[in-house]
Amino acid sequence: MSETELRQRQAQFTKELHGDDIGSKSGFKAFISKNKSAQKSAVDKYLKHWDGKVDKETEDKRLEDYNEGTHSYYNVVTDFYEYGWGSSFHFSRYYKGENFAAACARHEHYLAYQAEIKKGDLVLDVGCGVGGPAREIARFTGCNVIGLNNNDYQIAKAKWYAKKFGLADKLDFVKGDFMKMEFDANTFDKVYAIEATCHAPKLEQVYSEIYKVLKPGGTFAVYEWVMTDKYDENNPEHRKIAYEIELGDGIPKMFTKKVAQDALKNVGFDVLVEDDLAAKDDEIPWYYPLTGEWKYVQNLGDLATFLRTSYLGRKFTSTMVAAMEKVGVAPEGSSKVTNALEEAAVGLVAGGRAKLFTPMMLFVAKKPLDTK
Ligand SMILES: C[S@@+](CC[C@H](N)C(=O)[O-])C[C@H]1O[C@@H](n2cnc3c(N)ncnc32)[C@H](O)[C@@H]1O
Repeated sequence: MSETELRQRQAQFTKELHGDDIGSKSGFKAFISKNKSAQKSAVDKYLKHWDGKVDKETEDKRLEDYNEGTHSYYNVVTDFYEYGWGSSFHFSRYYKGENFAAACARHEHYLAYQAEIKKGDLVLDVGCGVGGPAREIARFTGCNVIGLNNNDYQIAKAKWYAKKFGLADKLDFVKGDFMKMEFDANTFDKVYAIEATCHAPKLEQVYSEIYKVLKPGGTFAVYEWVMTDKYDENNPEHRKIAYEIELGDGIPKMFTKKVAQDALKNVGFDVLVEDDLAAKDDEIPWYYPLTGEWKYVQNLGDLATFLRTSYLGRKFTSTMVAAMEKVGVAPEGSSKVTNALEEAAVGLVAGGRAKLFTPMMLFVAKKPLDTK
């Protein structure tokens, strides 16, 4: 299928699944109003390559089908993400006395600071979700952001929020595959990516596209999801954790930190910063919202988030979803999604505790000035 046909099909499918008035509903309300047969087909498309196998042939299929796989994954999980987490789909570091939303914004500000984003810069957000980070970074720095995303539903939502919050003149969101960017070379002053490029079937390819569209002298800053140096692919316990993360987060293959480091260098970047922010031994770990550890909740406001994201909260949601699916209120296949998200949470926490996995491997890299 050609790229144009794939796009048309995905756009048409999004309309069928979510209807026309994307944006007015979000979270649980959006989830139960989806077209039921389209939702079933999205779930089937997402899970078709996830059958517990990690042999080369199965992995190759997942890598090959990365675009449709991820598109389908975000078609079925976006409402759950917004319901549980908000409109920035990433982890953060947490300090004592700091609430969830403040930590999330600070994590974004830190990346903007590392990328040296300034007022008036034209910035690319690679894999922009529903635009939470782009809105925050545009407000924080005064830059203009173009968000790139291959999920039509998220793009529509991001546009809707930008308008709602009076940022439509600073932000734009476009459909595209970050493995084949259509922007002209040397377009952007800065590029950032938050927990998104891990969906790439090949890191070198997405980094080389970023290198191409960045102006010479421009900076790329990324929070990358990688398996750390402690990870051993041949250790079945380790591989199980990586598989849970892959399955529940729609990632064709989790790569190691070394693969990311080499990829950045191979495409020509000068790597200025390599800092695993999850390795700082913070008193409150980045994965705390997924655990049942009440002691980390900072204030009453965070309680609502914690109640949804913690083990008990997720159990409550998946039981409710299963019951709603049984009586036909929730679309068929919804339970499979909550089960996969549960596997992700288990793998993320286990990987985080054992320091086998990090969702915040910070790389800051520059495109040398003397390049075209
Ligand atoms: C975990 S979400 C992070 C979203 C956003 N960076 C944030 O922090 O809120 C990953 C994002 O990457 C996008 N994505 C995945 N594969 C992509 C691809 N091939 N091209 C463009 N975007 C992609 C997804 O649609 C999703 O928006």
